[in-house]
Amino acid sequence: MKKILVTGGAGFIGSHTVVELHNAGYEPILIDNFSNSLPSVLQGIKNITGKDFTFYEADCNDAAVFRKIFTEHKIDGIIHFAAYKAVGESVKFPLKYYHNNLNSLVNLLESMLEKGVNNLVFSSSCTVYGQPDKLPVTEDAPVKSAESPYGNSKQISEEIIKDTCSAQSDLRAISLRYFNPIGAHPTAEIGELPLGVPGNLVPFITQTAIGIREKLTVFGNDYNTADGSCVRDYIHVVDLAKAHVKAFELLEKKREGHYDFFNLGTGTGSTVLEVVTAFEKVSGQKLNYQIGPRRLGDVEKVFAAVDKSVELLGWRTELSLETALEDAWRWQQRLGSK
Ligand code: WQD
Repeated sequence: MKKILVTGGAGFIGSHTVVELHNAGYEPILIDNFSNSLPSVLQGIKNITGKDFTFYEADCNDAAVFRKIFTEHKIDGIIHFAAYKAVGESVKFPLKYYHNNLNSLVNLLESMLEKGVNNLVFSSSCTVYGQPDKLPVTEDAPVKSAESPYGNSKQISEEIIKDTCSAQSDLRAISLRYFNPIGAHPTAEIGELPLGVPGNLVPFITQTAIGIREKLTVFGNDYNTADGSCVRDYIHVVDLAKAHVKAFELLEKKREGHYDFFNLGTGTGSTVLEVVTAFEKVSGQKLNYQIGPRRLGDVEKVFAAVDKSVELLGWRTELSLETALEDAWRWQQRLGSK
């Protein structure tokens, strides 16, 4: 059974990817330092898969950890999620983001080259596009100067990986540019675990609906969109997780030195108010919200062109916005209102 190392394996997207790797017949090996996740996620994964996957509680900034893992296991590929990802926080503490996100990636790449581990799938983000000139945004859209140190760390990371692949190394890599991951596993055993006040829309909605938050503020309704609120491409986290398995399978067919990148979205944009309305429909309850001022750094409208992923990854989303909101709500009800 092929072993795939999942860094950030206890995280939101990492944990769902661990489940889909298992479902596809791979053996995931997890590493996480719980800086943005909880040990209970491992129990959730076990409740779904019945497995206690090998787990290393460690920091990807510690190069010795990778050497240890690569000595103890024959690793066939790596999916690298471990990174800080809060846009607002990155503006306040840029060095924290550059140090953690870039240093851990360089550590990983150096250990991979040293130990002959050749396949890397990298967790990137649509923030590399900024506000695209054309929509839907394709992979050959220009990468714009990032709106935040977080987004910049993703752009720089992609460049580091591309340069390493082209330096006649044995490395093959794919970067996956996520749009807006939402939802939870349908079993409600794993889901999004925002620590503190959620920055992202959907966890804020579910926390408002369950009573943890008093009301949702919609950040602006004076944009040039159908109802004035921003447009995003909301993708179910289970669909997103499945794309990682497809990316690894594609990589195995490629020659050394191969590098490519793919948009992972639904191909459809939804406004914030459409998400609110859809949530009210699936939850059967009114949501308490107000319209507030625009949030600095928000792009007006972004959603993915998915042709390249469909054609080359053999992957497309299957789950709807409503299903994602249903799954997010079921997960919030499981978490409760504490
Ligand atoms: C979505 C929309 C907000 C909260 C960010 C990162 C991106 C990725 C996903 C990591 C926007 C509006 C939100 C609220 C609101 N993260 N909103 N009220 O900003 O599109 O993307 O998270 O990879 O890299 O940039 O996601 O969920 O924060 O916002 O009105 O309380 O919801 O203005 O239009 P975003 P988001």
